[in-house]
Amino acid sequence: MSTDAAHETPLPSDSPPAPPCTLVIFGASGDLTKRLLMPALYNLSAGKLLSEDFKVVAVDHNENTDAGFRESLSETMQSFTKDTSSEFHPDHIDATAWGFVRDRIHFRHGDFAESATFRDLAGVLTGNVVFYLAVSARFFGPIVEHLGKAGLLTQADGAFRRVVVEKPFGSDLASAKALNATLLAQGDESQFFRIDHFLGKETVQSILALRFANGLLEPVWRAGHVASIEITAAETIGVEQRGAFYEPTGALRDMVPNHLFQLLCMVAMEAPDSLAAEAIRDAKSRLLEAIRPIPPEDAVRGQYTDGTEFGRAVPGYRAEPNVSADSRTETYVALKLTIDTPRWEGVPFYLRTGKRMTDRATEIAVHFRPPAQSPFLGACAMAPDTLRLRIDPEQGMSLGLNAKRPGPEMRLGRVVATFEYGDFFHESPSVGYETLLYDCMTGDATLFQRADGIEAGWAAVEPLLQAWRDAPVAFYPAGSDGPEEAAALLTRDGNAWLPLGKG
Ligand code: BG6
Repeated sequence: MSTDAAHETPLPSDSPPAPPCTLVIFGASGDLTKRLLMPALYNLSAGKLLSEDFKVVAVDHNENTDAGFRESLSETMQSFTKDTSSEFHPDHIDATAWGFVRDRIHFRHGDFAESATFRDLAGVLTGNVVFYLAVSARFFGPIVEHLGKAGLLTQADGAFRRVVVEKPFGSDLASAKALNATLLAQGDESQFFRIDHFLGKETVQSILALRFANGLLEPVWRAGHVASIEITAAETIGVEQRGAFYEPTGALRDMVPNHLFQLLCMVAMEAPDSLAAEAIRDAKSRLLEAIRPIPPEDAVRGQYTDGTEFGRAVPGYRAEPNVSADSRTETYVALKLTIDTPRWEGVPFYLRTGKRMTDRATEIAVHFRPPAQSPFLGACAMAPDTLRLRIDPEQGMSLGLNAKRPGPEMRLGRVVATFEYGDFFHESPSVGYETLLYDCMTGDATLFQRADGIEAGWAAVEPLLQAWRDAPVAFYPAGSDGPEEAAALLTRDGNAWLPLGKG
């Protein structure tokens, strides 16, 4: 299991180190840098995946020095050894691996709104550069414009200039299109790496292998064999300190056109022509474009009220800091999707995501149809075969099948075959950003979103964004499986959500 693997000493990897490169981080004092980027660089360093000529230029509007900044990051890295709630919680920090990164970090004071910041950078940066926008979304466009104007995106003498754009990428179709236009006015599509951290999860990438590398599964992965597919991203945490971001955002924008649709792509796209980045991104874009715009009657929005998290009393969403007392922002979404491709004709896709749910579980459940002809039909109650792909925090798969119960009569019982990745593969410690950072440096765009894919995702949810402007929310107590209306959405089709948890 990855949770145990995260405690192991990092092992060197078989992959070659990334090419020499300077990683310029805008928003260097922020949470993302501390919690994810630095641990990811540390893990890459431990795996010998960074070039000797790797450098970090940390840009932030707060004053600091190289020594001061390095020291504060070193303290944060040490603090993770005691923080079991963190994504990154190693037993100890390997001095050599961290020293390699620490000694290559240079701090630069700069305001992202000032051209002078970028002129200064242009004076010191040479060769390959990856600019990482670890900043609030409102700075994405302006920073890229400054980079372009300062000539920092010009790729000369074989050197690359790339920009990593975090999420949220826009807040609706119009704003996503505008941001894409801003980016593409300053550089080429191949220079922009739009991150969706769900694609950094090995278990998500593995869905392609499962579907297209197994003769047993590939032929049945379609209408005729599949009855329905459920995609769940349930969290136990609440909005807590993120109210200011979450109030205008809500669960739909935060999770659906990005994370859940990436899972949907992996599970539903057609076979790409090859494993090349563009072939995979073409197949994903075609799938996203085939999502029928979601009618509001096929979606439910919910908001948590006070309740419990693992037995501890927790406040409702409206009582969280920076949240309006009569907020109608949703913290839960459930919806039914139709995909207009022959492969998925008549197969409903049910998606749900929420905060403050009973259990944390990101998973996909594929429910298969019963056999068309069988001596058991009418004789015994047959449960559908269900394949559950567990992405987080469990990492593995389970297949629920019918078997004969022991005894003189022919009666069926449920058996479940399971496997966990950790039982078969050694996993290198990961916070989910290692592969993404490495891929930016090597120029592999497979796990990043292309402009057309981003826009197709927003287009599919646009009817809901419009309809939900003034719509009420359904309530659910913190620590539950979501609002009753979400259960009703499936009951309508004679289906039911799988209970959350290991099941
Ligand atoms: C982020 C969302 O993108 O993904 C958060 O903004 C959410 O609200 C998080 O909690 C979930 O990611 P993970 O990897 O913890 O499942």
